[in-house]
Amino acid sequence: MSDGVTMDKIVSLCKRRGFIFQSSEIYGGLASCWDYGPMGVELKRNVKNAWWRSMVEERPDVVGLDCSIMMHPTVWKASGHVDSFSDPLVECKSCHQRWRADQLETQACPACGGDLTEARNFNLMFKTFMGAVEEDAAVVYLRPETAQGIFVNFQNVVSTSRKRLPLGIAQIGKSFRNEITPGNFTFRTREFEQMEMEFFVQPGSDEEWFDYWSKERFEWYKRLGIREQNLRLREHARDELAHYAKACVDVEYLFPIGWSELEGIANRTDFDLKQHATWSGRDLSYFDSMSNERYIPFVIEPSAGADRSTLAFLVDAYTEEEVEGATRVVLKLHPSLAPIKVAILPLSKNERLVPLAKDVHDRVRKRFVTEYDDTQSIGRRYRRQDEIGTPLCVTVDFDSLEDGQVTVRDRDSLAQIRLPIDNLLDTLSAKLSGEAFGTDSLWADARM
Ligand code: GAP
Repeated sequence: MSDGVTMDKIVSLCKRRGFIFQSSEIYGGLASCWDYGPMGVELKRNVKNAWWRSMVEERPDVVGLDCSIMMHPTVWKASGHVDSFSDPLVECKSCHQRWRADQLETQACPACGGDLTEARNFNLMFKTFMGAVEEDAAVVYLRPETAQGIFVNFQNVVSTSRKRLPLGIAQIGKSFRNEITPGNFTFRTREFEQMEMEFFVQPGSDEEWFDYWSKERFEWYKRLGIREQNLRLREHARDELAHYAKACVDVEYLFPIGWSELEGIANRTDFDLKQHATWSGRDLSYFDSMSNERYIPFVIEPSAGADRSTLAFLVDAYTEEEVEGATRVVLKLHPSLAPIKVAILPLSKNERLVPLAKDVHDRVRKRFVTEYDDTQSIGRRYRRQDEIGTPLCVTVDFDSLEDGQVTVRDRDSLAQIRLPIDNLLDTLSAKLSGEAFGTDSLWADARM
């Protein structure tokens, strides 16, 4: 987290610049639901693409999957979610606010001091009915994690992908939890996206792979620009472990609300495949032709939140600095995450400038995500681009008409260079993939 960043500042920037809006705002909003605006949708998509690229495309041992959100209800019996995916809920007898009993420090209502009811277990899965009749037999759940879709497809994927273990299956998609206490903007919501990978390994090699994935996932956030001092790995104590886990470590980030979980890496053992084998009656064992043995694989699971990591990238990038006596707000996002890579800004709407500026824009937009903006003063336009994290701005001015050159401005160092339009694309590519104007090593790993 940058110094002085509050959640209020992030929420305000997100609304002001079109990253995140409250859901159904014109009707007064819907609690804990958020919509991604034009900038937010690009940022979150870039986060998911970066995850997919590093977890699937760049690896020979991981393949992808996209399962349906609603699944056979027995899946959730087998996984343990029907019986034990619950939080202890208490309600205030005076103001009727509801709280998670395990998060309360006192016996009284934190809002009004009133008496609380006894705790009861509240299942976090959303229920609905499939088909026209609302009866018990038609109950289905919205998945509370994407992982189970991967376990139930394990045999399908192994038998069709021509891959051997160790093998990972990755999935990005929506999950739903009827959280008792959602909040802190997009940190905890009832509808969110997960980026999960189940890595199936030979029993006995699980601890080694657990260490491998813990380190790998920590490094991923660093490669995308999160400062190391704001990241840490926290191992779960024995009494914190989920019923299926042999070990678990969280990647935590220093959010404005304090150190909190970004992602969990769990050693889920053979629990899930065994459960599904029992409940479905199918043999989910794997024959390992290398070791000549048949076994139920162990699973290492790195499970991240797309919304929560998007929030972490926003918080870490948010910077306020003094420039020429004024405060500049700038999102120092890694270029591969920035919603817009290059802004094309003609000095004015002058009819002589516009054709050249549009021509420059047409050339640049073929290679990069761009924005063309010719309204308001150039200062205000730079301010907007800084606040949405655009790494490079290209300015077309009256000299450009004479000398065929444009000015490129670097978001972080504020350095400007002037160069011929014919060299522009190569220069932008070089700058966006590491060759910074100044000393900004943050850009070193950029892939657009
Ligand atoms: N399959 C394992 C699993 O789902 P989890 O720790 O419950 O583990 C994994 O969730 C990640 O999903 C979390 O680290 C977080 O990033 C994200 N996540 C979980 N609940 C969330 C919520 N209510 N709102 C936003 N993100 C959430």
